[in-house]
Amino acid sequence: MKGGKTVQIFVHVILGLTLPLILVQCRHEGLNVNTMTPVCYNTEIEPIFLNKCATCHSQSKSKGGFGFYDYNSIFSSVTPYDAQKSIAYKAITGKGFTQLMPPDGALSENERILIRVWIDQGAKNTMCATTTPVLPGNGGKGGSSSGTGDVVCFQRDILPVLLSSCGTTGCHDQTTHRDGYNITSYASVMTNLVKAGSPNSSRLYTAVANNNMPPNSYTKLNTAQKDSIYNWIKNGAQNGTCASSCDTTGVVTYQKQISLIMSNNCVSCHSGSNANKGVLLDSYASVKANLDNGSILKAVQGITLQMPPGGHITDCELRQLELWKASGELQN
Ligand code: HEC
Ligand code: HEC
Repeated sequence: MKGGKTVQIFVHVILGLTLPLILVQCRHEGLNVNTMTPVCYNTEIEPIFLNKCATCHSQSKSKGGFGFYDYNSIFSSVTPYDAQKSIAYKAITGKGFTQLMPPDGALSENERILIRVWIDQGAKNTMCATTTPVLPGNGGKGGSSSGTGDVVCFQRDILPVLLSSCGTTGCHDQTTHRDGYNITSYASVMTNLVKAGSPNSSRLYTAVANNNMPPNSYTKLNTAQKDSIYNWIKNGAQNGTCASSCDTTGVVTYQKQISLIMSNNCVSCHSGSNANKGVLLDSYASVKANLDNGSILKAVQGITLQMPPGGHITDCELRQLELWKASGELQN
């Protein structure tokens, strides 16, 4: 996983350095953009438009009738898979226009190439993972709840699980804090539940490891979640904020992404006979059914009610749900 990311970054650097050459050489044969690493809209394309175009092409000030301030406005000026036909690309190369855009200085060749490859790859709303900083002393065993291997970060990997499985209304939330345990933040967990470095002397780990907690009528944590808590405590129980490992450049699968989004954010309240509102989200069939009827997407965007209560999934995770839905909801 991390190796893959390194390769991706490497390929991007190489692309940046050698693409001008390749383009010059291949101009007549056409460029096979599909074999290239997908260009990331959120980290590589949007910043160009926001920095170089949005001053004159904002929502309120759309010079020439064009806006370039968010994905939808930019997308409306491109022809997916065909940069040469795209008005945005014509404008930055000066083809068919009297004035090259931006008027105050052309984009660099590298920027124009990135935009071209992005459009030729379909102008997708791709989001890319940012690199994950390795915390000192990390290298634990087992899987992590986010499926990213050995690095476990409290904010990204542990807190969402604790909030949805322990810090809930009537249990270990701020108001109730049953048995004196408030499990809603790093500080509160560190007060009396965690002994950094010693998972087996930490109530937080021992209670979930032997399935004492959550109580019997609730969904227990799964093995990956328990392992994550173990590794996190073992490695010093730091308040790590890792960059997101979520990305939408590849195929989104049920096994790798969708089931994890559900188990980390939803399953604790939506499984078995205990399922809130009778909404089940603990199997392929139930997730598919609730995506098809629109209720998951509405709930995670807070259109009906906000799910998970008191939190939210990331934009990237939302996008993964939309992409998996759009690609036919395979049990892959
Ligand atoms: C300094 C202000 C400014 C910036 C920055 C700027 N534009 Fe423009 N743009 C204009 C103006 C003014 C017009 C209207 C020109 C006209 O109508 O002749 C325009 C028109 C356009 C048009 C329509 C052209 C046509 O002939 O209808 C497109 C497309 C466009 N800009 C794209 C871009 C893109 C893409 C960027 C960033 C890479 C950009 N612009 C940056 C000022 C700007
Ligand atoms: C802490 C417990 C909890 C978690 C975690 C949780 N839910 Fe819920 N969910 C509820 C409760 C309680 C209701 C019923 C709310 C009501 O009827 O007022 C509900 C209702 C729903 C409904 C029905 C909405 C409707 O309009 O009737 C959907 C869909 C839903 N949740 C989806 C999700 C999804 C998706 C997630 C994860 C991203 C999630 N929930 C996480 C407790 C939770």
